Amino acid sequence: MILEKINALKEEINSISAADKQAVEDLRIKYLSKKGFISQLMVDFRSVPAEMKREIGQKINELKNLATDKINSLKESFAESADSEIENLDLTRTATPYELGTRHPLSIVKNEMLDIFASMGFTIAEGPEIEDDWHVFESLNFPPDHPARDMQDTFFISRNPVDILLRTHTSSVQTRVMEKTEPPIRIVCPGRVYRNEAISARAHCFFHQVEGLYIDRNVSFSDLKQVLLGFAQRMFGPETNIRLRPSYFPFTEPSAEMDISCDICGGKGCAFCKGTGWVEILGCGMVDPNVLKACGIDPEIYSGYAFGMGIERITNLKYKVKDLRMFSENDSRFLREFESAR
Ligand code: PHE
Repeated sequence: MILEKINALKEEINSISAADKQAVEDLRIKYLSKKGFISQLMVDFRSVPAEMKREIGQKINELKNLATDKINSLKESFAESADSEIENLDLTRTATPYELGTRHPLSIVKNEMLDIFASMGFTIAEGPEIEDDWHVFESLNFPPDHPARDMQDTFFISRNPVDILLRTHTSSVQTRVMEKTEPPIRIVCPGRVYRNEAISARAHCFFHQVEGLYIDRNVSFSDLKQVLLGFAQRMFGPETNIRLRPSYFPFTEPSAEMDISCDICGGKGCAFCKGTGWVEILGCGMVDPNVLKACGIDPEIYSGYAFGMGIERITNLKYKVKDLRMFSENDSRFLREFESAR
């Protein structure tokens, strides 16, 4: 009797199927719940003769396992399809897919420059583009009648009570750091600067700079030269030579301009370097004691060097971009050319 019931149930369970989750749950109740068919068998099991209990018990167990496995696998099949629906739903996908842009050539070169200086121990300092006269000129030892203060070069925003202007160089960031920091100071200041110049292939009313400053005890001109040589060789190749020419900046004394050997002709002279074999890349010098004093640093104890260069200029040399205006026109055909340089 009981054996027939078991076999019939076995056949039935082997062929169960379900259309949805609810149907699976119904099957579970039908076969496996307390009042389900398999529990019912246990009632009949009580009257099974002792010598058959072992065999019948085993069969009931097998039936129970079969039902559990079947129902679990049905359950899983529905759980899986629900999960995969969620998995396939990409909530981060844009509604209208658009192409990824490329990094701007000036950003590529700036990052390269900053990486080189970071490896020499310089940290990055940034400051405001809208500045006051003190940080851009006064603190940097510009005499009141210096031509750079002239309306020709500087965009003024307001002139009363103090001059507020667009910074003409990122040396203003150096002043801001010196005012607040005890030496040693070793920083590079990247950023956009503004000068009131007619826009042409060679000049623009804004451009970008990286300026550097190092202040400590016993800093010498030879330290400066070594850092700049290291920079030039990493930026333009290990064969690069440098040359320092005496120059003038109000905030450095002595001051110099630095040329690198022309990497087009290798120093022999060509149209690019106007036959000289050298191209100018930056200004530099030892920080004038007046600047240190203005920023509350004792020039009897500390000395330092500073340098500054245009990112456009370095980019032009590296990638031979002939017209400065291309950097701000956002022509994607031009920008795409730097795709592989990232
Ligand atoms: N501030 C100078 C400029 O904008 C560059 C410079 C920085 C020169 C530091 C010497 C030392 O042209």
